[in-house]
Amino acid sequence: MDNTPPMHKLILSYLENELPRINAFLERETDKLDGSVRPPIQHVLAAGGKRIRPLLTLLASRALGAQGDTPYPLACSLEMLHSATLLHDDILDEAALRRGRKSAHIVYGPNVTILAGDVLLALANRLVADYGEPRLTAILSEAILRTATGEVKEIANVRNTDLTNDDYLDIITGKTAYLFQAACEAGAIVAGATPEQEQAAHNYGLYLGIAFQLVDDALDYVSPSDVSGKPSGGDLKEGKLTLPLIGYFDSLPDAERQQVLTKFRDNALTEDETAHILGEITRLALPQKTREAAERYANMAHDALSAFPETPEREVLHSVLDYVLSREK
Ligand code: IPE
Ligand code: IPE
Ligand code: MG
Ligand code: MG
Repeated sequence: MDNTPPMHKLILSYLENELPRINAFLERETDKLDGSVRPPIQHVLAAGGKRIRPLLTLLASRALGAQGDTPYPLACSLEMLHSATLLHDDILDEAALRRGRKSAHIVYGPNVTILAGDVLLALANRLVADYGEPRLTAILSEAILRTATGEVKEIANVRNTDLTNDDYLDIITGKTAYLFQAACEAGAIVAGATPEQEQAAHNYGLYLGIAFQLVDDALDYVSPSDVSGKPSGGDLKEGKLTLPLIGYFDSLPDAERQQVLTKFRDNALTEDETAHILGEITRLALPQKTREAAERYANMAHDALSAFPETPEREVLHSVLDYVLSREK
C-alpha cells in the first residue's frame, strides 16, 4: 500500500509483514462477490485505511499463543465489519470524503451502498461462522449490534445540548469501542487463551477503543482533510456534541452559554459564529484536553496487558497505545 501512515516503528515493521496478507485476503474474498455489490465494497477497502482492527486481532491472538494462519480470516472479518460501518456512516453523516477518496455513496449512490454494507457485514459473519466456535459468532454479533445502536443513539442526540459526559461516553463506547473490544477478545479466543487472558484482551480493546474515538473527536477539530482523508470540522456542522464542543459550552459564562446553546440547537449559527467557536476550541486547547482524557483510557488498556505473557506482540500492543494517542489521522 502506498499511503501507509507514519506509525510507531514497531507497529510499522509488524504491519509491513502483515498488511500484504490482510489486503490479499480481503481482495480474494470480495472478488467472489456478485458484480452488482462488489464495486462499493472494493472501493472502500482498496482506499486503504489504517487496518488497526485486524492488526489488533492478529496481535492479541499471537500474543496469546495462536500459530500459523488461523487468525487471518477472523482479522479480515474485523476489517470488513468496520468498513461496512464506514459505508453506512458516511451516508448518515452525509460525508463526501473517506480514506482520501470520494465516499462510496457519492460514487455509487446510497441505495447500493447501504446494501453493499449489509453484504459486507454478512460476509464477515460467514467467515467467522466457519471457525465453528459459537462464542466467536456471539462476540462479533454483539459488537455489530452495539455499533449500530451507538450510531442510532448519536443521531438521536444530534443538537441535544442536555447531553452529559456520561451520555457521550456511552455513545462512543457503542459506536467504536465495542468493535475494538471484539477484535481483541475474539483474537484471544482463537488463540485458546485462558479466561483471565480473554478478559484482559477484552479490557484492553475496550479502553483502547474509547481512547481511539476520543482522539478521533479531537482530530475532527484539528486535522486537515488532506491529512485525515475525511471532511474536517464535521462534528460542529453536523451538530455532534463531542468532548471539545461540550468543553467549549461549559467554558462560557451563563448568559452567553444560553444564547449559544439556543442557536446551536436551532442550527442557526452563522458562518462567522461557527468560525469563532472553532477558533475558541483551539485557543482553549480543548482538542489537547480531549487527548488527555484519551490518555487516561490508554493507561487502563496498558494495565490490562499485564495479564499477557511477555512476548514481542505484547510490546507491539503497548506501542499501539502510544500510536493511538499521538496519531494525526
Ligand atoms: C474511522 O475509523 C471510524 C472511527 C471509529 C473513528 P479508522 O480511523 O480506523 O478508519 P480507517 O480504517 O483508518 O479508515
Ligand atoms: C465512527 O463514526 C463510528 C462508526 C463508523 C461506526 P464517526 O462518524 O465519528 O467517524 P468518522 O469521523 O466519520 O470516521
Ligand atoms: Mg462519520
Ligand atoms: Mg458518524
